Amino acid sequence: MSRRTKDEDFDTKIDVLRTRIKDSDDLNVQDAVFDKRTLMDLYHLASKGVIDALGGSVCTGKEANIFKAIVGEKELALKIYRISTSNFNAMQDYLHGDPRFGNVKGTKRAIVAAWTRKEFRNLTRAEEVGVAVPHPIAMRENILVMDLIGNGENVAPPLKDVELETEDAKRIFEKIVEYISVLYNRAQLVHADLSEFNILYDEGEPVIIDMGQSVTLDHPMARRFLERDIANVAHYFKKKYNVGSTEEIWARLRKDKDEIDEINKKEG
Ligand SMILES: Nc1ncnc2c1ncn2[C@@H]1O[C@H](COP(=O)(O)OP(=O)(O)OP(=O)(O)O)[C@@H](O)[C@H]1O
Ligand SMILES: [Mg+2]
Repeated sequence: MSRRTKDEDFDTKIDVLRTRIKDSDDLNVQDAVFDKRTLMDLYHLASKGVIDALGGSVCTGKEANIFKAIVGEKELALKIYRISTSNFNAMQDYLHGDPRFGNVKGTKRAIVAAWTRKEFRNLTRAEEVGVAVPHPIAMRENILVMDLIGNGENVAPPLKDVELETEDAKRIFEKIVEYISVLYNRAQLVHADLSEFNILYDEGEPVIIDMGQSVTLDHPMARRFLERDIANVAHYFKKKYNVGSTEEIWARLRKDKDEIDEINKKEG
């Protein structure tokens, strides 16, 4: 194919994707999020068979838009970080403290891509130690492809929109505490934005989301972020259900740490 027809062919394909996007129910956010390069990256993901089609909007967050997508019969979530409206100074601060990404510099686009890669890797690492997170499937530039949490029609609601019985609240609290502890003790990660907004309630089980800002323990702010995460979770459950406390969470973290230290000592 000649260069020219190749370009034309590409334009047509982008138009097809664009048409699908126009069918989605969120028209006003499109211009900010679907710039030409993002469309090309979406097309690339489609050509690799990662997605078949785009669905409607799930949510417009502070930094990203979440859309449904489909591959085969399976529903996916696409988190597309907006290049134009991302707070990339804050992103840079988080990236610089992280030895995995410390020397990322360059354009806004490059920073946002590093941020997307960071979220992908954090989700992978969390999943490896047994934390329930959306399974990360692929990433390209500012686009993260992951499992959609929910069942068919319904996307799982955030914890803040759910009313639990006291028994369930206790169980969910314990599970979240376990996740904070294994993230810290086994994955060497701190979520750094943990709250009832970033925990989904999926058919009786908590699922942790939104890990772009999560940091490794050697980040200078890691301790402070951990304290804040623990305070957020404890205060939410205390106020709404009169369940749990910060002390309980710290005790669990210490207990798990001692156990891991003990095992490591035995193994020399
Ligand atoms: N994998 C997923 N499955 C289902 N819903 C999701 C998924 N990922 C995100 N969402 C929904 O989209 C919302 C925004 O996602 P997320 O928190 O990752 O983005 P954000 O831009 O950081 O948002 P915010 O700034 O509001 O925290 C979530 O609160 C949740 O309702
Ligand atoms: Mg969020």
